[in-house]
Amino acid sequence: MKSLSTFLARSVSLLALTLSLAFAFDPSSVQDDAFVNGKFCKDPKLATLEDYVITGLDERRPVTDPIGSNVTFVNGNNLPGLNTIGLSFARVDFAVNGQVPPHFHPQASEVLFVTEGTVLAGFVSSDEDGNRLFTKTLNKGDLIVFPMGLVHHAVNVGKGPAVAFGTLNSQNPGMITIANTAILWSNPTT
Ligand SMILES: *[C@@H]1O[C@H](CO)[C@@H](O)[C@H](O)[C@H]1NC(C)=O
Repeated sequence: MKSLSTFLARSVSLLALTLSLAFAFDPSSVQDDAFVNGKFCKDPKLATLEDYVITGLDERRPVTDPIGSNVTFVNGNNLPGLNTIGLSFARVDFAVNGQVPPHFHPQASEVLFVTEGTVLAGFVSSDEDGNRLFTKTLNKGDLIVFPMGLVHHAVNVGKGPAVAFGTLNSQNPGMITIANTAILWSNPTT
């Protein structure tokens, strides 16, 4: 009897482990536009330390774009160890008054963590939820969540440069900037 209950307990925990492994994939791993969101996996025997490590993300990036930000992505494209893992990372450098304009990630939610300066960040909830604006001035050490697919933005409202780091739950989150799409809609060429 005891061995039967032990067997059952082991079976249940094995099943739970199997299920958690089965659901450990990228939440929307299937497609990004025409591309499958994930690359062919490398033979594990050929993997190197460089597939898993990126250094120098503490270094300030120059901001030359008039929009006033420079986003350094760390994703499955430049860090192969992230492929199919469902995670990526980004460093954002803001010039004074710089911004990452309203955009969304079709494949990922994000947490944005401010490490320098003062950043006004926020998102708008969906039409069904009344398009409510959730916005907050974040200082060093503050973090905001951008739920998957919602339009969000971040603006440097401080007197000096600002830096934030984002973590996203996709190896290839995708990025759609609203203004880029609006420009096309307002000037149809056909
Ligand atoms: C962002 O920084 C990189 C150097 O890390 C630089 O090559 C690039 O031109 C910068 N981009 C913008 C938009 O400022």
